[in-house]
Amino acid sequence: MLSKSRNIVQKLWGSARFLQTSATKCSDNLFVHRDTPEDNPNIPFEFTAENKKRIEAIMSIYPEGHKRAAMIPLLDLAQRQHGWLPISAMHKVAEILQLPNMRVYEVATFYTMFMRKPTGKYHIQVCTTTPCWLRGSDEVLETCKRKLNIGVGETTKDKMFTISEVECLGACVNAPMMAINDDYYEDLSAKDTEEILEDLSKGRKPVAGPRSGRFASEPNGKLTSLTEEPTGPGFGLQAGL
Ligand code: FES
Repeated sequence: MLSKSRNIVQKLWGSARFLQTSATKCSDNLFVHRDTPEDNPNIPFEFTAENKKRIEAIMSIYPEGHKRAAMIPLLDLAQRQHGWLPISAMHKVAEILQLPNMRVYEVATFYTMFMRKPTGKYHIQVCTTTPCWLRGSDEVLETCKRKLNIGVGETTKDKMFTISEVECLGACVNAPMMAINDDYYEDLSAKDTEEILEDLSKGRKPVAGPRSGRFASEPNGKLTSLTEEPTGPGFGLQAGL
């Protein structure tokens, strides 16, 4: 009886999809640092001269006593310079902000935008939250995995691509979508995904934005509301006013 029930549960469980999957798959990666040859506190990290000027400009925005609020922009700068965020870069940010390292670890491990493992030149983030999932994000993700021959959280051998599965990136109206570095690619089909990856691997820059022919997030067909000419100021007011 017990094994029969277990089989039923396993069958149901096997066909179910978790509401979110990325945190479960990467939970150890998300919170734990382990020293590796390419990421340990003995590897020095220094900002470039150009970025040091940027740091001055960023820090000047924040009033005395609140400089620690510059932590996220500084971590982002370090990540952009290095390609990902090693522990030495976190220590450098802590040194600049005159904070204990732990304060920086807390922020760097909380925000998934910070990549604490070596990451490919192109970081592909496929959103698989409900609106994207309903519109075919599984196909987009599978296409990335198949075309690049890597799984989620992995980087291609040539260090060109890393795939992440992420929660909503705020472009649900153009679902399904994926972000590659700073660009959003939206209204995707498997074919679009293949073309984008093909372009990047050949050194071409695919045009960002919706692939459906939409300009932004307007209706896919014709307008369904606000179709009349605007009435102009004063419309509907009493004549005496
Ligand atoms: S659900 Fe994918 S962008 Fe919001």
